[in-house]
Amino acid sequence: EKGTYPHFMLKEIDEQPFVIRKIIQEYQAEDDSIKLNEDVRKAMQKTDRVYIIAAGTSYHAGLVGKQFIEKLANIPVEVHIASEFSYNMPLLSEKPLFIFISQSGETADSRSVLVQTKALGHPALTITNVPGSTLSREADYTLHLHAGPEIAVASTKAYTAQIAVLAILAVDTARVKGLDLSFDPLQELGIVASAMETLTDQKEEFDRLAKEMFETTRNAFFIGRGVDYYVVQEASLKLKEISYIQAEGFAGGELKHGTIALIEEGTPVIAIATQENVNLSIRGNVQEVAARGANTCTVSMKGLEKDSDSFVLPQVHELLTPLVSVIPMQLLAYYAALHRDCDVDKPRNLAKSVTVE
Ligand code: M6R
Repeated sequence: EKGTYPHFMLKEIDEQPFVIRKIIQEYQAEDDSIKLNEDVRKAMQKTDRVYIIAAGTSYHAGLVGKQFIEKLANIPVEVHIASEFSYNMPLLSEKPLFIFISQSGETADSRSVLVQTKALGHPALTITNVPGSTLSREADYTLHLHAGPEIAVASTKAYTAQIAVLAILAVDTARVKGLDLSFDPLQELGIVASAMETLTDQKEEFDRLAKEMFETTRNAFFIGRGVDYYVVQEASLKLKEISYIQAEGFAGGELKHGTIALIEEGTPVIAIATQENVNLSIRGNVQEVAARGANTCTVSMKGLEKDSDSFVLPQVHELLTPLVSVIPMQLLAYYAALHRDCDVDKPRNLAKSVTVE
């Protein structure tokens, strides 16, 4: 039920801090350590390479998850679009572990990969919001997102839940391996939940920005570097699916290799800047497009901000920034769709779960 909300999407955006707190509770043992299925632990210890398989928003969460597993647990990770993997399987390592990320657990493209990799005898873990779903039943192990039902076609709370669970999984794997980590995901996620609340309390700000940037535009570009590049891909998917604005997410450094030709007077370009090591370079990219007439908007992390930024995000751990930088992007997409009179919860041509290949 929507309750007092005009749309499920807005309700689900607002639920994200609660979902993160629920995940902390579900994955915390009594002694405050991480609580995780022992079989999943063993599978993570055994593998020499993780293959993340997903579609759409879940694929974008997988890209962020790769960072966690590689950087924290020191295991190589490949992230694949399910429909591509399914028809063009890459060479596999000796001991692959397949992780299927799916809100619904019913995505046919992902299931097709699961059927193929199971036939090859490889272990599979499904990370899903629906424990009894096909992908959950047919995989060897399941991790639950605990996000509650997601009704709006545009996925929001499932994305942040997927990233939170992937962070917990990566840290647990690192700890079992005996790697020395100072990063405590459960504590850091608590900080994230409060930061999310600060953002969802400032909706008018994003309503105003969305009106100014997107009400009449034909197209829009999002740019970022490092993990921000993954978030801008999600930002552009959100915007295109509910507002029908042609949007793309680009790596800041790639602009000069072609895309910058598309920038005209007034083209909206939204940049995310949450990573210290690329802060100067992404800002250089913003200047390049601004000099060619783009209508720019930079969303930065506290500590890295400049006076010209449109919005400064509350500070969270550098690894977890996607969980907060995505909230303004979800809200911008939501308000853009409203300002353009689009059906927010049920965009044209789309279904909540895609059960055909
Ligand atoms: O249920 P799944 O997570 O497997 O769904 C995958 C995609 O179909 C889904 O994320 C889709 O891209 C959303 N509509 C994005 O908002």
